[in-house]
Amino acid sequence: MKVSDLRGILNYVPSYREKVFVIALDGAVLAGDNISNLILDIAVLWSLRIRTVLVHGAGQQIKDLSAQTATPISNYDGSGITDPATLSVALTAANRLTHEIMEGLTSVDMRCIYPNAIIAHPVGIIDGIDQQHTGKVERVDEDLLRRVLAEDIVPVIPPLGFDGAGRTFRVNSDAVALAVARALRAVKLIFVTANDKLTRGGEVIQHMSVDEAAAYQKSCPDEIPPELRSKVAHGIGACRDGIDRVHIVNGKVDEALLSEVFLNEGIGTMIYANQYQSIRRAMKKDVQSIQNLIKRAVQSQEILPRTRAMILQQLNDYYVFEVDRNVLGCVALHPDAEGRRAEVACLYVSASHENQGIGRRLLAYVEKVAREAGIEELFALSTQTFAFFEQKGGFSAVSPDILPAKRREQWEKSGRNSRVLAKDLRSQPATMPV
Ligand SMILES: CC(C)(COP(=O)(O)OP(=O)(O)OC[C@H]1O[C@@H](n2cnc3c(N)ncnc32)[C@H](O)[C@@H]1OP(=O)(O)O)[C@@H](O)C(=O)NCCC(=O)NCCS
Repeated sequence: MKVSDLRGILNYVPSYREKVFVIALDGAVLAGDNISNLILDIAVLWSLRIRTVLVHGAGQQIKDLSAQTATPISNYDGSGITDPATLSVALTAANRLTHEIMEGLTSVDMRCIYPNAIIAHPVGIIDGIDQQHTGKVERVDEDLLRRVLAEDIVPVIPPLGFDGAGRTFRVNSDAVALAVARALRAVKLIFVTANDKLTRGGEVIQHMSVDEAAAYQKSCPDEIPPELRSKVAHGIGACRDGIDRVHIVNGKVDEALLSEVFLNEGIGTMIYANQYQSIRRAMKKDVQSIQNLIKRAVQSQEILPRTRAMILQQLNDYYVFEVDRNVLGCVALHPDAEGRRAEVACLYVSASHENQGIGRRLLAYVEKVAREAGIEELFALSTQTFAFFEQKGGFSAVSPDILPAKRREQWEKSGRNSRVLAKDLRSQPATMPV
């Protein structure tokens, strides 16, 4: 990461401040040399007031300890039967690892704690076989974790849970991470693994929607490395449960965690929840709502006035953001006759709902629609929102000469002196909603 990237980071920091990230550290990555760098990355996140909860696995350590002590174990990833010998090895290996993580955090002046926040119950008998000490997360003590986080203390959670009688169960660390993220309504769940990005047909996958991830998991299960299958499955579950972003990142790469969180093109694969479900194409019944919505912006000359007939004529180009049948935002995408370029226009979010990411979602949505339609370039004209297009949408100021002849003529005649912005979709990465 370069010093110049710090400026880019500032775009993200306000929206992440005081939010919870759950970081699920794989045992395999903690066995490597990069653990101290990962701890430093976590310290940086805390310094930006991002509340991180650490959940760790211990599969690798359990495997190693069983080999060292010649203790035969029934399974090492917490997914099969846990007999008493396996539980004993798992307790020693997992607790040692928790301790090592806490040593690392202490060395960078961070306060940390191992809370008994995972309440588990036995998995029980499956296909007639008693799974013994293998547990399932029953509930997360959300109150305890919130109090710890509020005191600036990092919770470090091993793949172990307690039941009401004080018995210990081994639980799958990915399931623990998902349960914690869900309980704390985390904005991100980050699986730090020892694997590179996911691929499909040899192509790396930077990001995919939860629906794409589910289709990928179903259609090409063999392309997912065995170590990542549980991450993908739990990642899909997380997105469906309202966690906006799940990242799978190779923790062996230097600065992996920070790069993934703060750079547009992260180094891992991101699965994102469907943030577009409130957006739909406008219908005839919406015309009045659109006109009412933009009235204020028209008066303040932020948006050009549009008559009912004008909107109806291009109704297919309009999209609305609707919650409980109230239209709270709108945007239009007007493609040119050749279908090569398109204008983004009439972007507006109700003043009562500003700063909730709706504007960025609308902008990212029409960009996605444009890309899917093979549009190569977007442009927009703006008098007062050009900085939004530049900073949040990746547009750049360009000369009005790039405008199609007819649009250029209108631009001149209007006397509004709007700035012209453009985005080349062939060379620029896709904008992601917050
Ligand atoms: C611009 C607009 C669409 C943003 O919608 P929104 O839902 O509030 O935006 P988001 O919540 O996605 O993003 C908010 C971020 O954008 C920034 N932002 C909002 N308006 C901005 C502007 N005019 N210039 C620069 N940044 C702006 C906010 O400061 C905030 O930044 P932060 O996340 O770093 O704190 C909305 O303010 C609006 O409708 N403006 C008036 C209409 C207009 O001028 N439309 C353009 C005509 S093409």
